[in-house]
Amino acid sequence: MQLPRYIAHRGLSKHAPENTLAAIQAAADAGCEWIELDVQCLGDGTPVIWHDESVDRCSDGKGALVDMTRDQIRPLDVGSWFSSEFRGERMALLDEALSLVSALELGLNLELKLNPGHDPVELANIAVHRARQVLPLDRLLVSSFDMTALESARAQDEELALGLLYEAVPRRWASDAERLRPVSIHADWTQLDQERLIEIQRAGLAMLCYTVNDPERFASWWDHGVNGVFTDDPGLFDPRYQRQARGDRRRKPR
Ligand code: G3P
Ligand code: MG
Repeated sequence: MQLPRYIAHRGLSKHAPENTLAAIQAAADAGCEWIELDVQCLGDGTPVIWHDESVDRCSDGKGALVDMTRDQIRPLDVGSWFSSEFRGERMALLDEALSLVSALELGLNLELKLNPGHDPVELANIAVHRARQVLPLDRLLVSSFDMTALESARAQDEELALGLLYEAVPRRWASDAERLRPVSIHADWTQLDQERLIEIQRAGLAMLCYTVNDPERFASWWDHGVNGVFTDDPGLFDPRYQRQARGDRRRKPR
């Protein structure tokens, strides 16, 4: 798998409401090759693209996802909090997001997001199964902070590319890696440690950092061998990733 240097975090989330179909489309329109999306399950087991434990911050509703059903989330407006331009945007079902990612020929880092009260095995089983039905192995990277979810993902598919997600990379990363056989380690760049990075490189794994929106402060980490970053706007790093006006569906030449 050719891992990307830039991954649009939650879609092109600087320019469109995070984790929505609009943010996926905006990333493709800007010429991004890869995006990251968070997936979790509603109380009725429906997998949806959403980051938070509740709908409060990014919709016009209130309540915990774990208490909601598909019929309850569908009427929510998940775009107006970001800008009136996105009024009426609906929470994306995993299946809708996968179809769009596939149609746009994007690579996807699907983060299995385990907020309190959710079952890691249920989420991994549903999300990995559906993603593998739609995306080829070389355009799918599954990650999680939750090692139980990753164990289920690995048990389902021996060939699936996995990313181990941490805040600061802990000492146990190597034993996690031995068990889960990931292709990459993902960590908070503000807690990055040079010695850990060297260990990871020696093990032949890629290092991806989140969420990097300050290219100047980050610059020296490229020299230390970081392979890629999650960023809300790849255009901050490379002007070739230009935001397009909404509705302009032309893809930039790569
Ligand atoms: O996967 C990288 C990054 O998305 C992890 O943090 O909180 O943005 O999902 P978060
Ligand atoms: Mg995420």
